[in-house]
Amino acid sequence: MSEKIKKIAVLTSGGDSPGMNAAIRAVVRSCSYKGLECVGVFRGYEGLIEGDFKELNARSVKNIINRGGTFLKSARSKEFFTKEGRQKAFENLKNANIDALVVIGGGGTFAGASVFMEEFKFPIVGLPGTIDNDINGTDYSIGYDTALNTVVEAIDKIRDTANSHNRLFLVEVMGRDAGDIALNAGIGAGAEEILIPEQDMGKERLIESLQRSKKSGKTSSIIVVAEGDQIGKNILSLAKYIEENLKGYEVRVTVLGHIQRGGAPSCYDRVLASRLGVGAVDALLRGEQNVMIGIVHKKVTSVPFSDTIKGKNELDLELIRVADITSV
Ligand code: F6P
Repeated sequence: MSEKIKKIAVLTSGGDSPGMNAAIRAVVRSCSYKGLECVGVFRGYEGLIEGDFKELNARSVKNIINRGGTFLKSARSKEFFTKEGRQKAFENLKNANIDALVVIGGGGTFAGASVFMEEFKFPIVGLPGTIDNDINGTDYSIGYDTALNTVVEAIDKIRDTANSHNRLFLVEVMGRDAGDIALNAGIGAGAEEILIPEQDMGKERLIESLQRSKKSGKTSSIIVVAEGDQIGKNILSLAKYIEENLKGYEVRVTVLGHIQRGGAPSCYDRVLASRLGVGAVDALLRGEQNVMIGIVHKKVTSVPFSDTIKGKNELDLELIRVADITSV
């Protein structure tokens, strides 16, 4: 056990995701359990630069496991990407006698942490918190499962009205450059077509496929479009193109937007966040740093930040086959 670590700070950075509160709670309670002090940093790296800190104990994090968002608030800090900003952050950490930091966020958060670590040799451990599930080195990120459930619930409702009016709906979902949300929620909601950045379908093939569906007796359709998909990038012009090339359907567009980021975390996300939060403090006490704590094949695992930043968590292409077969 690392003798040096007596006080740990925790922050959330980047886009919020459901389960971040559960992760903070697990870090704080793990510190409490192990007799360490814990400090919450507000507004991510912005708060680190401004010294916006608050001492947290086991009771400070009561009644938050069930709450979406992050009570520590989050930000995407531009100043942290300057040397001066990081210098101020380091001085604030030193002045508050903080020995190590847990950062909860996505790729941008880990990139910032990695530079900071290199400059100041300050121990940092990361937790994957993003609905996009686009981080290398973990099977799932905190918030992804909840976002999937939110999307499926929304599409179930859209299906009711699509079916009543014999309409075709384009439903745009988040995910940045990754198609994980679109593909999994699309299968779960029984979508006819799923457009993802990892696979270029092309507009012509899309129309052919929709025509086949129509011939087979379908009277309405749901097309899930990942925000990062090339042909879905301008969803309104895609809607126009479909209306012009596929007769007999009225087309409507729904952009689900930020409702995908909110809401109470699912049980899966609460448990994942709790396991990873405990794992982060364990890792720091083992002397690990510059790593993300992820989940791989059900096991809590440490992955160097450099590996998480390299590429995105690979999409399971078998899912595309499943989507094709089940939407026939
Ligand atoms: O990374 C999470 C995410 O919600 C992406 O899916 C989306 O592209 C982006 O953040 C939206 O960012 P903002 O909240 O800054 O609009």
